[in-house]
Amino acid sequence: MSLLKKIDLIQKNFKAELTSSIDDLDKISDLHNKYLSRKGILSTLFSELADADSKDKPILGQKINTLRKNIQDQLSSFDSNQTSKKSSNIDLSLPGDYFAEGKIHPITKVIEDISNIFKNIGFSIFAGNEVEDDFYNFEALNIPKHHPARDMQDTYYLKNDKLLRTHTSASQIHFMEENEPPIKIISPGRVYRNEDISVRSYCLFHQIEGLYVDKNVSFSDLKGVMEYFSKEYFGKDVKVRFRPSYFPFTEPSAEMDIYWGLNSESDYRITKGTGWLEILGCGMVDPEVFKNVKYDSNLTGYAFGIGIERIAMLKYGITDIRLLYEGDIRFLRQF
Ligand code: DAH
Repeated sequence: MSLLKKIDLIQKNFKAELTSSIDDLDKISDLHNKYLSRKGILSTLFSELADADSKDKPILGQKINTLRKNIQDQLSSFDSNQTSKKSSNIDLSLPGDYFAEGKIHPITKVIEDISNIFKNIGFSIFAGNEVEDDFYNFEALNIPKHHPARDMQDTYYLKNDKLLRTHTSASQIHFMEENEPPIKIISPGRVYRNEDISVRSYCLFHQIEGLYVDKNVSFSDLKGVMEYFSKEYFGKDVKVRFRPSYFPFTEPSAEMDIYWGLNSESDYRITKGTGWLEILGCGMVDPEVFKNVKYDSNLTGYAFGIGIERIAMLKYGITDIRLLYEGDIRFLRQF
């Protein structure tokens, strides 16, 4: 039989076979194999083409190509018909599957919200280290070995004179060592203290450190920024107060309280009956600290350290600090 006749015959056969297979996906897939696979009918036609008379080759080649394209098109349109038939069986009124979406941890949320407030007024973020040595955590912050302030913090000491930082203030030193003033940074992160675990305290917690260094920075600049932050975060009616305090790395030093109120029994408990709650420590950078990072002695600056857990507990009404670290999904789903 001539190749031309063969092509016609194959065309007819395919049509017939396709019509009889129309409702059977498996048969369609067989047809695909039979005609289009590597050892399929079309492939044999192409090898026979090699032996054809060379003047007939172009026209025969074209015919085989058209036939192959036809077969491909018909099989694939059949496939998509079948799929759309199938998808019309989907019942869109059935209830969907439960999809557990992730939630932001309350600690992360507080850190992000507070960081955004400071970013808006020009502070940039600096990530410090959780493993420090004595110099960055104490010495450079004007807390020398014999200083009683070291007793305020029970430190986790590691091997090779390393320790887990007890406060984010260590970041101040790193940043000043590596950068020239003016400086305007916040440094959020995790800190560690060897405290008994209870409803109120845990062996790790979070702080946001702030540092502003320039010429002619005053205590009223510090107060202004702390009040601005409090209003942005707690709302414009928040009441704040500053109390004199002591930190070795700031002079003068203060603590800031916000008025939480005395409306419930738990308000009495958490504010020890005063209605006021301490949320941060702050002060003017002590000249000794500037000396330790080899800064000019005529510089001025303020620093602050905000406790995150207390704010998260207030904001979300969490009464046991341990819940923040246990990863209990029933707790975390509520945020
Ligand atoms: N580092 C202090 C602490 O952990 C908090 C603190 C107080 C940070 C005053 C400061 C500051 O930057 O100026 O208790």
